[in-house]
Amino acid sequence: MRDRLTTHVPTFSGGEVRRPGRCRSVRNRVVRVALSGIASPVVTKEAEDDVADGWFPESVAVDYDAPGGANAPTVVEPAVQVLADLANGGPVLEFAVGTGRIAAPLAARGLQVRGIELSRAMATRILDKPAGDAVEVTIGDMTSTRVAGEFSLVYLVFNTISNVTTQDEQVAVFCNAAAHLLPGGLFLIEVGLPDLRRLPPGQDTVPFTVDPDHEGGGYVGFDQYDVVTQQFTSNHVTVSADGSGRFRRIPFRYAWPAEMDLMARIAGLQLKHRWSDWDRSCFTQDSIKHVSVWARP
Ligand SMILES: C[S@@+](CC[C@H](N)C(=O)[O-])C[C@H]1O[C@@H](n2cnc3c(N)ncnc32)[C@H](O)[C@@H]1O
Repeated sequence: MRDRLTTHVPTFSGGEVRRPGRCRSVRNRVVRVALSGIASPVVTKEAEDDVADGWFPESVAVDYDAPGGANAPTVVEPAVQVLADLANGGPVLEFAVGTGRIAAPLAARGLQVRGIELSRAMATRILDKPAGDAVEVTIGDMTSTRVAGEFSLVYLVFNTISNVTTQDEQVAVFCNAAAHLLPGGLFLIEVGLPDLRRLPPGQDTVPFTVDPDHEGGGYVGFDQYDVVTQQFTSNHVTVSADGSGRFRRIPFRYAWPAEMDLMARIAGLQLKHRWSDWDRSCFTQDSIKHVSVWARP
């Protein structure tokens, strides 16, 4: 999860927790947009962000495609290769398609690619990428938004199932994926595992960064877990060179692979693959993430 959380977190000042409910104003609101011809907006300040864009508004989207990290070819290409293999030439649908980091390269391979995405600020950037104009995007919530057609593969990568913060809604994501699949079609999730094995008894917090030299100031990052509710937050304290600070706190829900297998069964799907990464290596007790694939019979 840290790849995303350290590089693609929304920023806001004042130390207040932005509640998950903030995104719910757009639940069930499905707006079809033709993205063709919409230019990427200019950089905006956080105060100008559109609340409907949830945790990925303009002030986050503007940096999302920065080179390196999750955008490095060494990260993108193995994922695209696996997804193309699984699609086997059929149409694909990405839930939470973002800026098309994965969808556009898939479309460039000649696959028919569609996407569902909550944030317009993210989605408009798909057009900036080669073959991005071939990706048809529907603005909406992946728990409920339906798009026309049936797909060989539906996929949800980069930990984004954890952005859905209730069990019911995570089940809804599985059911919605299954509803878009052709018989024999596949649903793939890529998600990190929670760092609970690093929690000693009585402790709920796992630090992942303490950097006193971050951009002339400092940066401390830690995850905080509630093992009763399976909620966790990612917390980021940044101190600028002038001594001013910012605290960012983002909510998530973790689910073990076994819980996801049950969600899949509820949706009528069966586990077909569970890998430790895009290299299709075995999932083991030391794995820190999983790439899982369920099939519609
Ligand atoms: C970490 S980004 C991943 C984007 C893209 N899949 C990628 O791999 O680069 C998470 C994306 O999920 C979107 N998102 C979060 N919750 C969503 C939901 N319930 N429905 C649709 N999109 C959602 C966010 O707006 C954001 O663009």
